[in-house]
Amino acid sequence: MRKAIGVFDSGVGGLTVARELIQQLPNEDIVYFGDTARVPYGIKSKETVIKFSIENILFLLKYNVKLICVACNTVSSFALPVIKNHFRVPIVGVISPGVREAVYATQNKRIGVIGTRGTVNSRSYEIEIKQLDPSVKVTAVSCPLFVPFAEEGLLEGDVVLKVAQNYLKPLKNAGVDTVILGCTHYPLLKPVIKKAMGNNVCLIDSAKQVAIEVKKILAAESALNLSGKGRHRFFVSDNPEWFSGLAERFLGKKIKNATKVSI
Ligand code: DGL
Repeated sequence: MRKAIGVFDSGVGGLTVARELIQQLPNEDIVYFGDTARVPYGIKSKETVIKFSIENILFLLKYNVKLICVACNTVSSFALPVIKNHFRVPIVGVISPGVREAVYATQNKRIGVIGTRGTVNSRSYEIEIKQLDPSVKVTAVSCPLFVPFAEEGLLEGDVVLKVAQNYLKPLKNAGVDTVILGCTHYPLLKPVIKKAMGNNVCLIDSAKQVAIEVKKILAAESALNLSGKGRHRFFVSDNPEWFSGLAERFLGKKIKNATKVSI
């Protein structure tokens, strides 16, 4: 029987990861769950994020998924290390793939990390970077307004640029040459982040690496679908219209129907 890849996020942001999965794995079925009733996770406590994450995983497991992709940096930071080994399916997060790419990309061994308050406070990126290369200096800042900016479609202009310059000042002062976009929404703001940081700074969007890792794991388990066009289903815990309305910007294509479920 064809099995799907399960993907979840606090809401709409994880669609930037789903987009890359769809591109790199066109034969795979995807079941996406966005916890729109409880978004945002970025300001919630570790305990709460863990509880929500377990519930989201249990929902996806009902669809008999073969792998779960945690398409949320806050969940990957707070919950993944705790829950990873409690389920039989492989669970892939977004932190390690982004870290590997950043450590590979940096020339001057100074990496900046931007994310939600939760992600930055967890120090998840810093810890993993140091494990790979202890000589790297990490500067991490949270950019809470970037999430509403991305959702409102405020992706350029003076106001966004000013806010970005302000948030990113510590990274500029630290002389980082690589910045990890440690939040699902931030890839949408790449042009303004680039403008604020300067053209020579390399921006790391982990979605591509996440899709590569998913492919690798499925290939190793001989679980890749090699034929047939993938079917994509979207579930949310609230407000399917809002989710579908934003989907095009995050996923790159329209979603016909997202289904509301209670979990
Ligand atoms: N998906 C979240 C993340 O990547 C951002 C939105 C939220 O705070 O829930 O951290």
